[in-house]
Amino acid sequence: MSQVQITASLQDLAAVEHLVVVARSADLAKGWATEGLSDPVRSWTTRLAEDARPGRTGGSATSLLPDGAGPGRLSVIALDDTVTHHVSDTRCEEIWYQLRGIASSAKGQLGVLVALADADHAFGATLGVARSFPLYNRKSKPSKLTGVTLGLRHSGGLVQDVEALKAAADAIQLTQRVVDMPPAELDTETFEQEARDAVASLAHVRVQSIVGDALLDEGLGGLHAVGRTAMKAPRLVLLDYQPPGATDTIALVGKGLVYDTGGLSLKIVGDRMLTMKCDMGGAGAVLGAFVTLAQTGYPQRVIAALGMAENAIGPNSYRPDDVLAMHSGKTVEINNTDAEGRLALADAASYVARNYAPSLLVEAATLTGAQLMATGKGHAGIVATNPELEQAALNAGLASGDHCLAMLWSPAHLRAEFKSKVADMRNSVADRMNASSAAAGFFVFSHIEDTGVPFLHIDLAGPSFRDNRATGYGVGLITTVLRQRV
Ligand code: BES
Ligand code: MN
Ligand code: MN
Repeated sequence: MSQVQITASLQDLAAVEHLVVVARSADLAKGWATEGLSDPVRSWTTRLAEDARPGRTGGSATSLLPDGAGPGRLSVIALDDTVTHHVSDTRCEEIWYQLRGIASSAKGQLGVLVALADADHAFGATLGVARSFPLYNRKSKPSKLTGVTLGLRHSGGLVQDVEALKAAADAIQLTQRVVDMPPAELDTETFEQEARDAVASLAHVRVQSIVGDALLDEGLGGLHAVGRTAMKAPRLVLLDYQPPGATDTIALVGKGLVYDTGGLSLKIVGDRMLTMKCDMGGAGAVLGAFVTLAQTGYPQRVIAALGMAENAIGPNSYRPDDVLAMHSGKTVEINNTDAEGRLALADAASYVARNYAPSLLVEAATLTGAQLMATGKGHAGIVATNPELEQAALNAGLASGDHCLAMLWSPAHLRAEFKSKVADMRNSVADRMNASSAAAGFFVFSHIEDTGVPFLHIDLAGPSFRDNRATGYGVGLITTVLRQRV
C-alpha cells in the first residue's frame, strides 16, 4: 500500500489511472465536485452518483471510462446528506468505509477528490482517506497500487494548506502500521525502536526509556509485573517535546501491550486472544499524535509516556492473589491478570503526573472489551474528570472524525468495585454489570487522584482495530483536543 500525497492542484488528479470522487449526494447532484475535470468524468460522475445510494456507511459505484476521458476508471462515493449529533460532519467514517473497499483492489495511480461541504472538514476527510491505505502488508505478491494522490476542494477551490494534513495522514499510517504488526515483529524492544525512529528527525524532542528491573527502582511495580515474564523486558518510553517559549505541559499516556494473552488468567474462552496484537493501539495513537504535534510546531510542551509490556505466561508471571506496589504509593491485589492494561497505565500516568506536573493528562488504551458494548465499534468511550474537558473531547471527536461518547464519571458509584480485604484496592471489578469500562478508567484515575491533574481517559478498544485492521484511531482526536486549548 501507499503513503498518501496531498495535492493543491486539480491537474494532478486529471491523469491518474483510477479517480475516486467523494461528496455528499446533494453536492454530487449539483455538479460542482467535478468542476474543471473532463466532460466524460463529469457526466459519468452524475450517472454513478445515482447508483451509489448512500446509507449509514455511504455508498459507492465504479465504472470503466471511455478512452480519452483521462482516468481509465472512475468511482463515486456518495455520502449521506445528513448525520446525527453523534456523527462527524466530516464523514471521516463513511469515507473510510467505502474507500477501503475500493483501495483493496485498486491498481496503478489512484486519485481521490473530496468535495467538502465545509472547508473545516479537510482534516477529518484527510484522516478518513489516509486510514483507507494501511501500510502493513505481508502478502507475498506486492500490491498493484503504486500511489495515492488526494485533493480536497470546497467552494473556494482546492485546499492549498496541505502541510498539517500531510503530517496527520502520515502519522495515522504510522499508528496503523505498528498496530497491525504481529507480536513476533513488534515486541517491546522493536516498539521502542519504532518510537525512536518516528521522532528522530523532529526538533525539540528528547527520548528516554526505563527498561526492565530499572522500572522497580522508579517504583513502577505495576508495569514491571505485567511484563516481567516476557522474553523482551517491559518499559516506559518517554517522548519529550519542548519547544522554545512553551508555557504549559500536557501529558499523553498510552497502553502499549504488544500482546495480551491474559496472563495466568488466560484468554481461554473461544477466540478472545485473537486480535490482541492490537493491545498497543493506545500507545500507537499517542505516538502518532505526538509526532503530528511536534511536526506541526505545537506551541506547548508535550510528554508522551508509552507503557510497553507483553502480558505473557511464564515462570515469572504475576499471579492472581499477588499484591503489587504501584508508583502512586497504593497497593493493588490482583484478582485478574487479564486486567493488566490499567496497571501499566496507572504507573505511567502516576509517573508523568508527578514528575512533569502537566495541566492535562490524556490517556488512550484498548482497555476493555466492554467498551464495545457501552459505546460501539466506531465510537470510543471517554471518561473526563470535569464537564468542560468532556465537552472538549466530544467536540474534538466530531471535528476530527474520531468519534467518541461520554461514559460515567462518578467515583462515588465506582470506588466500591475495587475494594480489597488485604490491599488498598483490587485491579478488577467485583461486578462486571456496573459500568465496567468507566470503572477501568476510574482505576487509572485513582492513581493520580491526589495530584489534581485533570484527566481524560479514551477507551478505544473498538475503534482502533476493526475487521482485523488497524484504523489509526486516536491521532485525530488527541491532536484536536490539544490544539483546541493551545
Ligand atoms: N486488552 C483487553 C481489552 C480488549 C478486549 C481490547 C477486546 C480489545 C478488544 C484488556 O486487557 C482485557 O483483557 N480486559 C478485560 C477486563 C476484565 C478482566 C475486567 C476484558 O475486557 O474482559
Ligand atoms: Mn487483558
Ligand atoms: Mn489488554
